[in-house]
Amino acid sequence: MEKIVSLCKRRGFIFQGSEIYGGLAGTFDWGHFGVALKNNIKQSWWKKFVDGRRDMYGVDAAIIMNPKVWEASGHVAGFSDPTPDGKQFNVMFKTQVGAGEEAVTSYLRPETAQGMFVNFKNTVDAFHPKLPFGMAQIGKAFRNEIAPRDFIFRQREFEQMEIEYFVRKSDWEKYFEYWKDEMLLWMEEIGIDMSKVHEIEVGDGDRAHYSSRTVDFEFDFPFGQKELFGLAYRTDFDLKTHKLDYVDEVPTESRGSSTADAVGKKIIPHVIEPTFGIDRAILAILASAYTEDQKDGEVRGYLKLKPNIAPVICAVSPLLKNKPELVEYANTKVFAPLKEEFGRVIWDDNGNIGKRYRRQDEIGTPFCIVVDFDTLTDDSVTVRYRDTGAQDRIKVENLASYIKEKI
Ligand code: GAP
Repeated sequence: MEKIVSLCKRRGFIFQGSEIYGGLAGTFDWGHFGVALKNNIKQSWWKKFVDGRRDMYGVDAAIIMNPKVWEASGHVAGFSDPTPDGKQFNVMFKTQVGAGEEAVTSYLRPETAQGMFVNFKNTVDAFHPKLPFGMAQIGKAFRNEIAPRDFIFRQREFEQMEIEYFVRKSDWEKYFEYWKDEMLLWMEEIGIDMSKVHEIEVGDGDRAHYSSRTVDFEFDFPFGQKELFGLAYRTDFDLKTHKLDYVDEVPTESRGSSTADAVGKKIIPHVIEPTFGIDRAILAILASAYTEDQKDGEVRGYLKLKPNIAPVICAVSPLLKNKPELVEYANTKVFAPLKEEFGRVIWDDNGNIGKRYRRQDEIGTPFCIVVDFDTLTDDSVTVRYRDTGAQDRIKVENLASYIKEKI
């Protein structure tokens, strides 16, 4: 864990929040490569669960909501943790909205979910979706955790990616199983070590106030087996509490007989909620990817990130930075076109080649491309692969397709 934390700081992924003022517990700031990693994860999630489907509607709701939302949702009454002296402490952050007499106490959202429930009617009215369908949101959530700890695992400000999937009551078990599988598939896709993932059925006394069934996906983090993501059956709790319903208009013949009586009737859909913490996803990915081996007689620590997730796809270097003809070639014929094509491409000419490789290995860059003196005559470059150190000689004109094939 210490190695991961120090790599994240040294290589510009994640810094302690407000560090120059002594930090602020439970907050972190993301550097260039951390933002890139986070964006890649969000994009992968959105692509799979929203753009890749026909039944999902995106939302980006306000973080500060009318306090009535949190009264109705049960968070004002029940979103508490015990303090060390046994008192219940509500972990929602309070804030004042407006000035003077007019000021209203509200809260920073502790989950993104409610931003979707309160837009259920808007979504139905705007898009007329047929059951089953879902709403999806990515955004910040805030909890005044009593004891933030374990790097980005338990923070006071973090980010969630959540789906509220609306189904007929009789179908909830089927879709619970369906979403469990979808969640597992995506974890694998982003490079989480699946041998470290455990499915835990959460017992009656331990579930959140809105859930009738919860499965937690726990991960073997370096500090122990802890919750990574969750899957909850929220029943009709939320739509009911916000007094929302839905007119089910599907023709009888396309329906199972058990739900035939609901045709054209107002019903309250039930909700399956797959929820993903981005920060925990990143910690699990880093813990899965961090690898040490022996290279050139020394221990090499590197991130074996999947190329689709890695902050940098390839780094481009001139063999020597004081040879203008190498720099010119590397810049105009290799770096510029690759940057244009892939975006996540960096220029690295610091130190000797060995140092550059070590640095890119730590960032998790799958390919390092070096322009040398032979390049000037044969228009070929050396492409070195992170995991094996193996090198290929590739024609510059084929570089983009070579990389595309591997990512
Ligand atoms: N809407 C349901 C919900 O919020 P949760 O289990 O309380 O459920 C969902 O939170 C996910 O958010 C967790 O599985 C975890 O990945 C992430 N999460 C929760 N609290 C967190 C914290 N303090 N720091 C970082 N991530 C957190």
